[in-house]
Amino acid sequence: MNSDELRSKYIEFFTQHGHTQIEGKSLLPENDPTVLFTTAGMHPLVPYLLGEPHPAGKRLVDYQKCIRTGDIDSVGDPSHLTFFEMLGNWSLGDYFKEDAIKMSFEFLISPKWLGIPLEKLGVTVFAGDENAPKDEESARVWKELGIPESRISYRPKEDNWWGPAGSTGPCGPDSEMFYDIGKEPCGPDCGPGCSCGKWLEIWNDVFMQYNKTEAGIYEPLARKCVDTGMGIERTVTILNGKKSVYDTEVFAPVIAAVTSAMNPGGYTYGEDADKDKSIRIICDHVRSSTFVLGDPKAVSPSNVGAGYVLRRLIRRAVRHGRKLGMESLIPAALAVVEKFSGPYPELAAGKASIVEELRREEEKFLETLQKGEHEFEKLLPNLLKDPKKTMSGRLAFKLYDTYGFPIELTDELAGENGMTVNRAEFDEAFKKHQELSRSQGGQVFKGGLADQGEMAVKYHTATHLLHRALRMVLGDHVAQKGSNITAERMRFDFSHPVPMTAEEIKRVQDIVNEQIGKDLPVTMEMMSLDQAKAAGAMALFGEKYESQVKVYTVGKSPADFFSKEVCGGPHVERTGTMGRFTIQKEQSSSAGIRRIRAALE
Ligand code: SER
Repeated sequence: MNSDELRSKYIEFFTQHGHTQIEGKSLLPENDPTVLFTTAGMHPLVPYLLGEPHPAGKRLVDYQKCIRTGDIDSVGDPSHLTFFEMLGNWSLGDYFKEDAIKMSFEFLISPKWLGIPLEKLGVTVFAGDENAPKDEESARVWKELGIPESRISYRPKEDNWWGPAGSTGPCGPDSEMFYDIGKEPCGPDCGPGCSCGKWLEIWNDVFMQYNKTEAGIYEPLARKCVDTGMGIERTVTILNGKKSVYDTEVFAPVIAAVTSAMNPGGYTYGEDADKDKSIRIICDHVRSSTFVLGDPKAVSPSNVGAGYVLRRLIRRAVRHGRKLGMESLIPAALAVVEKFSGPYPELAAGKASIVEELRREEEKFLETLQKGEHEFEKLLPNLLKDPKKTMSGRLAFKLYDTYGFPIELTDELAGENGMTVNRAEFDEAFKKHQELSRSQGGQVFKGGLADQGEMAVKYHTATHLLHRALRMVLGDHVAQKGSNITAERMRFDFSHPVPMTAEEIKRVQDIVNEQIGKDLPVTMEMMSLDQAKAAGAMALFGEKYESQVKVYTVGKSPADFFSKEVCGGPHVERTGTMGRFTIQKEQSSSAGIRRIRAALE
């Protein structure tokens, strides 16, 4: 079974079980300062898991593109990926544990669906702690279905709990499903969930039944939900008896594009461990980069946020490409576009800009490399005076930090001149730098959830007022290009070719405050996208919408309104609760895009 068949079967199975298929969302989350990328299928659904009604109903199914960069440095081994696809089904206050597990079981075991032999399956359930009891119910259901006690492991929160690590949001115990690859157990305690390599996780059923508050309290959710996630790449790997995700059809055309771009040519994947590792890094990083560049909310490579991660991915791939004698990553990117445009038509639509951005970043990186080499040559006469022929790690780090010059290349140049680099010292400086950028980047992985605090909700409504006010003052060419909200401020990006004048900024600010002063009600209705447009609602260009959408109106009545937008919510009930709106800064964001930073006081 290939990945296309798996995707369709999953959607078909859950549709047959009363679920409505919804569109996967952008890789770049809207209104969520806690993560740079969409990290799980449930991520775009957080508001609904917390109680917002979803326009498509209570049983949903989809496939979602995800990026997790926590393990970026492990990519290159046979299993790690930065980009992956997640299949998911959701119950928003509908079925709970028993039905969720029964459906998972049927899909995995029934010959009509995946047909995995029963004896290959093992599961884990939550062992219980001071916040929540041992999950006897899930264990009971698994046993009734035929999983023997010996293949059910009880595991603590670190393993069997999904939810925000250090932040707030919906969470609960989970039950994970593993495939036994048949290896000997590593010891008497080896069971599902053991990390020795015998058990491969393929699916996770999360039973969302708490909301973790800012005070760290687990409040029971009024409406219990189910969130499940099945990794496409891993599941295809086990279904085809392969050892590595890179050995599957998912990567085959991308690997072929890389090997045919190698110089000297004639290489076959699998012949040389070092080369294979570089090939895997290129395939993974190019796939992630292509999806980011081909996203409706694409970012460009830059030195901050998601753009920085993208830059790192491209540059690391270029470096490995150079090792293999590749001139460019573009053929590999085109293979990604070709392979995935069926389920992700945005890739074909964005092909020209994907190629253009990659070409530009490759050129820039080449300049960086030349600059770094030049700096190294300037340092060389002094370096050679050292009797130990060692270059200090601090100096190597400076080349990296100031010029972006990769340590591997410093190593290489040093080697060519009969020297070594003090790697321990470099690694220490690098680690410090990484910790710093991690804390600054604020990137949260497991459970990076949207902040649904009171202030975030107020800012969310403020984006609607601002969007409309900008169109009134500047014209209808203004369209929202992105927003980012924290509890302290909001940022709003929009299309407009020139800087705003002080007069325009003041008018926009006054209009927003006037609407806040009127204490207008904010109401929500569900309708079809066409009806929403006919009613005068604004929708984000490039966003994918369901057939039924939620429309938020700020105004006295559905006909006499100030703003109407297609949006997932949540919003304040009345504008009067929002406080005073101040525009603090108006600046350029990128070509043709302006950025406003504003606060509510
Ligand atoms: N959120 C859970 C996961 O990512 C299940 O979808 O594993």
